[in-house]
Amino acid sequence: MKTTLSFSTPSQLETESLVAVVLDQADPAQKEKNKDSKPQLRVDTSDAAVQAVATDLLASGEVTGKPFEVNLLHKPAGLKASRILLLSGGGAKKFSSYDLRRLAGAAVRTLKSRGIRSLAFVAPSSIPVEDAVRAIVEGAFVGNFDPDYYRSDRKDQKIDALTILTSGDKAALEKAVQEAQIVGESQNFTRDLVNEPSNRMTPTILAERAKKMSAEVGLKCEVYGADKIKELKMGAFWSVAQGSDEPPALIVMKYEPAGAAEKPVLGLVGKGITFDTGGISIKPADGMEKMKYDMAGGATMIGAMRAIALLKPKVKVIGIVCATENMPSGKAQKPGDVQIAMSGKSIEIINTDAEGRLVLADGLYYARQLGCTHLVDAATLTGAVVVALGYANAGLFANDDALYDRFSRALDKAGEKMWRLPLDDEYKDNIKSTIADIVNSGGRWGGAINAAMFLKEFAEETPWIHLDIAGTAWMEEQKPWIAKGPSGIALRSLVQFVKDFAD
Ligand code: BES
Ligand code: MN
Ligand code: ZN
Repeated sequence: MKTTLSFSTPSQLETESLVAVVLDQADPAQKEKNKDSKPQLRVDTSDAAVQAVATDLLASGEVTGKPFEVNLLHKPAGLKASRILLLSGGGAKKFSSYDLRRLAGAAVRTLKSRGIRSLAFVAPSSIPVEDAVRAIVEGAFVGNFDPDYYRSDRKDQKIDALTILTSGDKAALEKAVQEAQIVGESQNFTRDLVNEPSNRMTPTILAERAKKMSAEVGLKCEVYGADKIKELKMGAFWSVAQGSDEPPALIVMKYEPAGAAEKPVLGLVGKGITFDTGGISIKPADGMEKMKYDMAGGATMIGAMRAIALLKPKVKVIGIVCATENMPSGKAQKPGDVQIAMSGKSIEIINTDAEGRLVLADGLYYARQLGCTHLVDAATLTGAVVVALGYANAGLFANDDALYDRFSRALDKAGEKMWRLPLDDEYKDNIKSTIADIVNSGGRWGGAINAAMFLKEFAEETPWIHLDIAGTAWMEEQKPWIAKGPSGIALRSLVQFVKDFAD
């Protein structure tokens, strides 16, 4: 999608479709008191001609102003645009760039489904211009993605050209457009990887995609196989990989910009299970097909490294993806087996389906060996996090409050939602083993926390954040702003987090 800025007056722009945001100016407190009070709808722009074209419609009582309501007017009087899409954003008081990002996605999805190829989005005047531009561009890229690659009847409907109508410092806004485009494209790159089924996204193929991407953007990328994994004594990672005929891949991407300080070195570690059958503790057939997205954490790190390499923040970053299938076979590990992780800790395998924490244990430890001073991992780690938080928030864990605060600020800027869950010492009892240092499954209660407690054993003293994206990496339903399927969650926050380290 070609993305450009325009500083002309919205009404004077010739375009296939103009998009403007409608907000309800009514006082929310008054609304609470009087349920019958009417919305006070107004287009969020300073262009009087755009205001005027919507006046009658907005006063008609036919428009509610609820978020994502759309109204399309053709040949709008006084505008050079062929049509105008009025997109409601809800109450003006609460309206933020978080909402705007989603509205931009909704505009793209509404118009492309009608066969329209270009749009010009009027940046709402209530959001600071640079934030608005970033939100519109990121949201538009997210909305433009559809996972219908293998469908013969796919319509290939895409918006080809996006214009953002705004005013302000041209150079700063152009930088914002360029950066937001990199982020949006990288998020879609991740979604493409996640969308592939396991027969077309083996560990080897995932590694090839990471290599190809790295070559394109100038990252160092090494891919190691079973020999190196065994040589490094990654007994936890190998215990999962040993059951599969597909060779595993340890993917290591390094971003070392000239002029960056020796420290910090940020480590991004991703779970790359290209298919999770559960292994010998096999999963039920119902819904097992979804376990192709068990490499979403790894794909997120590959996409994040792409964005980082293109945005060029002055800070060192290492991306590590532990990629393997989790299969039952004559070579597969069995419940009761004891494995020795790279760190030397012994692990009693209670459930071979708790494999993500095994590969990450060695991934996190290896990142520290490579010199990482701060760690973030992302993984579709537990069904339990979905029970705890549903689909709206990813689970977030941290062993360091200062690092949590940093990440939390990045989440706000990136418009992603995650919720911190505890890591108190009390939970440590859940992963005690009789015959080894720890067990790999702490049982059902607090399952997401038990998994995080397990990982904490391998992050040790290094400041670390763990993102459990099992409930958020895949959209179960389509939304106005995003297709059903892979979401690309966490990428934007990770990239923001890394950028903030450089400033
Ligand atoms: N990949 C799954 C977690 C998952 C569940 C991801 C649902 C996406 C959607 C993970 O490897 C797993 O199987 N976890 C087990 C852990 C249990 C055996 C301790 C789980 O959550 O049931
Ligand atoms: Mn599993
Ligand atoms: Zn898994």
